[in-house]
Amino acid sequence: MFYDDPKKHNLRHNPFKALVAPRPIAWVSTIDGKGVLNLAPFSYFNAVADSPPMVFFAPNGPRPKGGAKDTLNNIEETNEFVVNLCSWELRDAMNKSSAHVDASVDEFALAGVTPADCVHVKVPRVKEAPASLECKFLTRISMPSSNATSRNTMIIGQVVGVHIDDRIVEDGMINTAAYHPLARHGYMDYSATEKVFEMLRPED
Ligand SMILES: Cc1cc2nc3c(=O)[nH]c(=O)nc-3n(C[C@H](O)[C@H](O)[C@H](O)COP(=O)(O)O)c2cc1C
Repeated sequence: MFYDDPKKHNLRHNPFKALVAPRPIAWVSTIDGKGVLNLAPFSYFNAVADSPPMVFFAPNGPRPKGGAKDTLNNIEETNEFVVNLCSWELRDAMNKSSAHVDASVDEFALAGVTPADCVHVKVPRVKEAPASLECKFLTRISMPSSNATSRNTMIIGQVVGVHIDDRIVEDGMINTAAYHPLARHGYMDYSATEKVFEMLRPED
């Protein structure tokens, strides 16, 4: 099959997000000018470089009642954010934090997770997360949207501090079986990696 009009795929649901999968989940914490804590998951997310380490994610489109996502507003206000990595064990808390609640709601409390201090940013990290990346805002790319009233936005940040829970480190390496990274597929589907395999490059 082939389609080039997103409304004419002739399938039960748009397959795009099920094809570009699995996607890791950035569980992004931010803080607003009044000190209210915000937490939300974003699967349009990945690392883009490691020297220095940089990540991107995309808080897109309008919220159901209009306006930009709180995460985007907060980053524009403070220039800081934390990408908490999400494990199988934290799936329910992560999902709770995706609710479209008012900007005045503390979403750490809503999700039932604990704020922990960071070193280089004022934004707290999720203490229960297997790892957290302290990020300084670098740049944003404003992209078109099929919603006439909004834009899609890619945020790129530089990682200035990395927290790793000692429980996922074994023999000086990250142990995937202990980490259980959660990933997003299409529809309402997720996966959690338990097993990895090694493959050497031709030149190695
Ligand atoms: C697993 C998962 C992944 C998501 N990925 C994205 C994403 O990449 N971009 C986006 O704009 N919204 C994404 N969402 C929806 C946001 O989490 C949701 O709109 C959230 O309420 C935004 O919160 P905020 O307004 O506090 O920033 C995702 C939701 C879930 C559950």
